[in-house]
Amino acid sequence: MRRTRPIIAGNWKMNQTRESITAFFQFLKGQSLPHAERWIAPQAMHLSLCQQLAPSDVKIGAQNCSWENSGALTGELSPAGLADLGLHFTIIGHSERRSLFHESDATIERKLTRALDAGLNVILCVGETLNEREAGETEQILAIQVQSALANVAPQQMERLLIAYEPVWAIGTGKSATPDMAQTAHAFIRSLLSDRAAQSADLPILYGGSVKPDNIQELLRCPDIDGALVGGASLKAADYHALCSAK
Ligand code: PGA
Repeated sequence: MRRTRPIIAGNWKMNQTRESITAFFQFLKGQSLPHAERWIAPQAMHLSLCQQLAPSDVKIGAQNCSWENSGALTGELSPAGLADLGLHFTIIGHSERRSLFHESDATIERKLTRALDAGLNVILCVGETLNEREAGETEQILAIQVQSALANVAPQQMERLLIAYEPVWAIGTGKSATPDMAQTAHAFIRSLLSDRAAQSADLPILYGGSVKPDNIQELLRCPDIDGALVGGASLKAADYHALCSAK
């Protein structure tokens, strides 16, 4: 069944301190329960702290994980270890991982498969660069990124998959996609999945890229937008609460 509540996933990237996290969750606890499902991805070092401090409905997850569950991979995060910690999800294939850390579609496929096998929910990030959009290649890029990532996903694992459409040119730039642009891309992504899983109509597709309290409402009104993956505006508790309260 298609979710009736949006998912507002905060991607804190390499931000926040123990002190700011404590204040963030204290603020949320002082507010009434908002409409949205609340998901937060802090830095790895703060995962346990967030599990301790967050209100019980808030789902905590990682920003990235390895393609292996154990082994000689210095500095990496084990998907099985994340699941063992009781975490709900991991993000995979964020555009910063793709561009700054040179993660290829093949790497992302391995990570996604391993994370789903470990029992985690996965938010797979996809999106085109400005050059690709201007060259008319948006759909081609989305098709490659989605189809390569899902190459080895079993139909029953699709229930734990979410996709975030994040146009690279909209991330951290203050320049969000228009609701029309986002809706077109989301509907295209949903169409890519229709032959893979009976439940493709229910698969949550989040929009990401300069989502703020003043543009969330028009984005959520689009029929194929099921929530948002939010960077900058998820760092301040009042803004995050406003995003989660939007209908
Ligand atoms: P932004 O980041 O909301 O700051 O644009 C979104 C993201 O990177 O997921």
